[in-house]
Amino acid sequence: MARLDGKKALITGGAQGLGACFARMFAAEGAKVAVTDVNEEGAEAVAAELNKDQPGVAAAFSHDVVSEEDWKRVLAGAAEAMGGINVLVNNAGIGSFGNIETETMDAWRKCQEVDVDSIFVGTQLALPYLKDAQPASIINISSVAGIIADGNMLAYNVAKASVWMMSKSIALHCAKSGYDIRCNSVHPVFTRTPIIDPLVALGGGGEEGERKLVRQIPLKRLAEPEDVGYAVVYLASDESRFVTASEFKIDGGITAQ
Ligand SMILES: NC(=O)c1ccc[n+]([C@@H]2O[C@H](COP(=O)([O-])OP(=O)(O)OC[C@H]3O[C@@H](n4cnc5c(N)ncnc54)[C@H](O)[C@@H]3O)[C@@H](O)[C@H]2O)c1
Repeated sequence: MARLDGKKALITGGAQGLGACFARMFAAEGAKVAVTDVNEEGAEAVAAELNKDQPGVAAAFSHDVVSEEDWKRVLAGAAEAMGGINVLVNNAGIGSFGNIETETMDAWRKCQEVDVDSIFVGTQLALPYLKDAQPASIINISSVAGIIADGNMLAYNVAKASVWMMSKSIALHCAKSGYDIRCNSVHPVFTRTPIIDPLVALGGGGEEGERKLVRQIPLKRLAEPEDVGYAVVYLASDESRFVTASEFKIDGGITAQ
């Protein structure tokens, strides 16, 4: 038995970076995956790559997570393609740079909309599907930025802290309602994906830019997407059946300082 046999996972933001890595690791562990992204071509490319090795393992959907209508269409399509949904990975997200003096209302709102509101709307709409396919697991990708602050990440700090606490509230509601649906948050430190390109550029770009990020991390390297994926595979699997309302820091020790 593979670790995710029988799992049917919808992964948002799956066209690249962490989401694409999760899709690859899930498929390798026996899950079916619905790869969704506002970047439809990217989602299709990831699904095609997986289907080449395991025909029918993946389906791709064009999905803007801020759109309630998109969520309804994608949930129905993914449930049909996979025969239900019992894992939801709320991974799509964006960053925002700005401090209390420079952040704009537009950028603030966009960040909360994509990173936070989407998880509220999407999880609410996904619950009937998850209830139908219990045991189920909701995995919300927060960040160390939800736990420790940076003066230049005002909107992102607030968004990822909201994701952390929203995960606990969802988990408690499900547990108290008697659903076998768990919900946990994952908090990566800087991970080698396109989202950190602006941070690397801010530090002078290239190796020097990376070195500046790495300096803050006790284990002295960036996270690789798989480092985060191992935690997400565990949370999707029944190995984590007694784990809910928890936070998983994949952070090389940074939040201990
Ligand atoms: N890489 C890191 O250092 C890091 C650290 C902590 C947390 N995270 C979080 O991990 C998650 C994945 O980030 P990543 O590093 O893979 O970034 P990424 O930019 O490589 O990928 C994000 C994906 O989300 C998609 N996306 C953006 N807005 C969307 C929307 N409105 N609807 C649907 N899809 C949308 C993008 O098209 C992209 O494919 C994010 O929530 C991010 O905040 C990343």
